[in-house]
Amino acid sequence: MSRRALIAGNWKMYGLAAALGELDALSAALAQQPVDADVAVCPPATLLAAAAARLKGSPILLGGQDCHTAPEGAHTGDISAVMLADAGARLVIVGHSERRRDHGETDALVRAKAEAALAAGLTPIVCVGETIEERQAGQAEAVVGRQIAGSLPERGEAVVAYEPVWAIGTGLTASTAEIAAMHAFVRGVLGARGARVRILYGGSVKPQNAQEILALEEVDGALVGGASLKAADFSAIIRALK
Ligand code: PGA
Repeated sequence: MSRRALIAGNWKMYGLAAALGELDALSAALAQQPVDADVAVCPPATLLAAAAARLKGSPILLGGQDCHTAPEGAHTGDISAVMLADAGARLVIVGHSERRRDHGETDALVRAKAEAALAAGLTPIVCVGETIEERQAGQAEAVVGRQIAGSLPERGEAVVAYEPVWAIGTGLTASTAEIAAMHAFVRGVLGARGARVRILYGGSVKPQNAQEILALEEVDGALVGGASLKAADFSAIIRALK
């Protein structure tokens, strides 16, 4: 079964209103040279509604970067999946390593968020990945396997993003051999549903390395941080798709 590629940009805590101009540029680039893939941008939640208005008629999908487990409630500062959908999002990143680190998010919490996303009609992008210490200790597969078992909803259309923590924002990418091996491992862990689940790679994906990473057999796309902030870089990555 062939899976449609997905290239998703994660703007993290970057982007004021002026950054919406990058979406216009991205949209124009895709209109000029359409791609047979899903392209998504996850801006800060403050920009979602404006981005949705701006992207009306564009194939670019919008996503959130996190969501609460409940559809609404007394949770000051949090945003629900229902709210993200209402603002125009179609996807949401959950369990990013920065949230696991900064907010102590556990696998169980990440799974609950992913389930809330599915219930709101959003596609969750569930992030997993080992730290450098875990990799050096030979634990990378054990860690990722445990994260998948604990944080991926059992049913529903979820996307997995394998992002080695040591490759995020560091300029270090895993070697193609390391990526290929981990993606094959994840595909195996997913069992029968593995044929349908898209597995993205993330961690310092750039125009310069996108082609060799995206060409790997079990890599169905990329989750791109820093290089998604500029339309020129992000569209170069999109165009590197096989
Ligand atoms: P990076 O971030 O591309 O800046 O390394 C990727 C991510 O955190 O999703």
